[in-house]
Amino acid sequence: MDQDTLKAEVAKSAIEYIDRHLQPDAIVGVGTGSTANFFIDSLAEVKHKFQGAVASSDATEERLKSHGIPVYDLNSIDELAVYVDGADETNDALELIKGGGGALTREKIVASVARQFVCIVDESKCVATLGTFPLPIEVIPMARSAVARKLVGMGGQPVYRENFITDNGNVILDVHGLAIEAAREFEHEVNSLVGTVTNGLFALRPADVLLVGSPKGVLEKHASD
Ligand code: 5RP
Repeated sequence: MDQDTLKAEVAKSAIEYIDRHLQPDAIVGVGTGSTANFFIDSLAEVKHKFQGAVASSDATEERLKSHGIPVYDLNSIDELAVYVDGADETNDALELIKGGGGALTREKIVASVARQFVCIVDESKCVATLGTFPLPIEVIPMARSAVARKLVGMGGQPVYRENFITDNGNVILDVHGLAIEAAREFEHEVNSLVGTVTNGLFALRPADVLLVGSPKGVLEKHASD
């Protein structure tokens, strides 16, 4: 089974999972990336069962709208029933590295207002220790070098993501060479570097449910397991 088939399967499972909890007035938070795109395409089939969506990127907003799913501004919403998104890495505590697609800040904002965060990945994303996938950090452009120097002092090797501007008009540093054991502390420490918008660690707000696509089927893990 190739990776895209696993992503499509896990996206379908996410629909089955949220379908059990969806109310007609529910607003669904929707992530960004290729796995999230499979989810959006499946979500279109049940669009009559919920009110609409909040998007975590311009690309996701466009895809949702192309399926006729109403997209709401987060400022007009008090709370989201559920947020569904992919990840670049996940550990057993359902802490994540996200932001390979550069949408980490909006993803983190939308996740922060969701009652439940359902993360959907294929099995290649499951790791014992976070950090093999370079940690994306969204940085205000004028702070790029200053933040990069601090990251070197913290043991990382930041690489400027060339020719990439986020939906918020900022740049991304991808930090290589990390083995992140205390993810909550590290997330907090990196976020406190002046000029950082946010980093791609989702440990202070990890996923609540992880659906993992594998050739044997889709595995469901909970933060409490
Ligand atoms: C985008 C993300 C994505 O969720 C992450 O990069 C995984 O992407 P994909 O589903 O394409 O493997 O965080 O900013």
